[in-house]
Amino acid sequence: MLRVLLASLLLVAAPALAKDAVKRETVESGSFKMTLPLGLQADSAYVPDDNPLNEGKIELGKLLYFDTRLSKDSTISCATCHNPYHGFAEARTVSEGIGRQLGGRNSPTVLNRLFSADQFWDGRAKDLEEQAHGPLVNPIEMGMPSHDNVVTVVKGIKGYAPHFAKAFGDEKIDMARIAKAIAAYERTVVTGNSAYDRYQAGDKTAMSASAVRGLELFNGKANCVACHASFNFTDENYRNIGVGMDAAEPDLGRYVVTKEEADRGAFKTPTLRNIVQTAPYMHDGSEATLMEVVEFYDKGGIKNPQLSTDIKPLNLSYQQKLDLVEFMHALTGDVMNADPPTSFPK
Ligand code: HEC
Ligand code: HEC
Repeated sequence: MLRVLLASLLLVAAPALAKDAVKRETVESGSFKMTLPLGLQADSAYVPDDNPLNEGKIELGKLLYFDTRLSKDSTISCATCHNPYHGFAEARTVSEGIGRQLGGRNSPTVLNRLFSADQFWDGRAKDLEEQAHGPLVNPIEMGMPSHDNVVTVVKGIKGYAPHFAKAFGDEKIDMARIAKAIAAYERTVVTGNSAYDRYQAGDKTAMSASAVRGLELFNGKANCVACHASFNFTDENYRNIGVGMDAAEPDLGRYVVTKEEADRGAFKTPTLRNIVQTAPYMHDGSEATLMEVVEFYDKGGIKNPQLSTDIKPLNLSYQQKLDLVEFMHALTGDVMNADPPTSFPK
């Protein structure tokens, strides 16, 4: 009886408590200010000095990100493979570009890229600006013949010029500016204020009992936190957990970039925020569900000479596996600036 009474008192008290505890951080870039959703840390934001954020640039970047006219046959945009309706990733094993051609890797989310410098599963691009150059001219992604060709197409759409003026101060259109605008937009697509964040901010009713147990497992017995660390659930490092290493010709991941033996089969630890929206999982899309992912870790990954020493059989019970999955569901938050444009320049 007393228990029930206490529980209901807590329910009433909780929202007020959470409101007092709410501390949202603000990213400042030049004179531009962006207040982040609850749980995200402004001091981890990475905005290169030569590409400060501003309203016009973010708007322009959003138009370019969603504009299919930037692909060879006008069918594919960045949003095709990094789709707001799939957690800014896509619901297929590996990507499909122009002419239904398949790529070799699963499309990672564009969410919370603000907190990383290096991009791609193997970190081969040093920032979002460099990254944005790739897919436009990748023959099996957007398939444009050259970056000059991309610039010609954007110049040909007269309605874009005023957007460049607003973003950069004059109407000049070149590839560097196109990439800068796309990168600026991507940096605003952030997710936080999940049940987990509200729980951490003091609202103890925000997560279910199962998710709370999952959090304890995540940080304890299951040791997920060894790699999925800090507020964005990544150590921003490259780790070998064995995905695909039993294939005849495995994707060697980070090794191709560094040529270091220890990096064979290592891939970037991805964020787990909004993870329930981005199935299938892993760099090759080999795990269909979060339960399959947990089963993969429970077995100790896939053995190979470079397997991380943080990956070991976990001997989790069925309930513990469910709790971990439930915890990952609690990482789904509000996405800022996610709505596609309502119209495009003509
Ligand atoms: C045909 C599908 C496809 C299209 C179109 C596409 N991407 Fe990607 N994107 C991918 C895949 C697959 C990867 C992972 C490739 C890798 O790691 O080697 C990726 C990786 C990324 C990453 C790295 C994310 C991370 O966590 O490291 C970013 C950022 C990104 N894309 C942004 C864009 C932008 C911006 C565009 C448009 C200019 C775009 N993509 C177009 C499929 C696509
Ligand atoms: C040794 C570091 C490490 C540990 C420990 C670890 N992970 Fe991962 N995790 C990674 C890496 C690296 C990837 C990407 C691997 C790949 O695709 O090759 C990944 C991928 C994932 C993915 C898929 C993400 C996506 O976007 O496709 C999920 C979900 C996940 N891990 C959850 C967990 C959980 C739950 C635990 C604890 C049981 C855990 N991880 C433990 C490093 C780790």
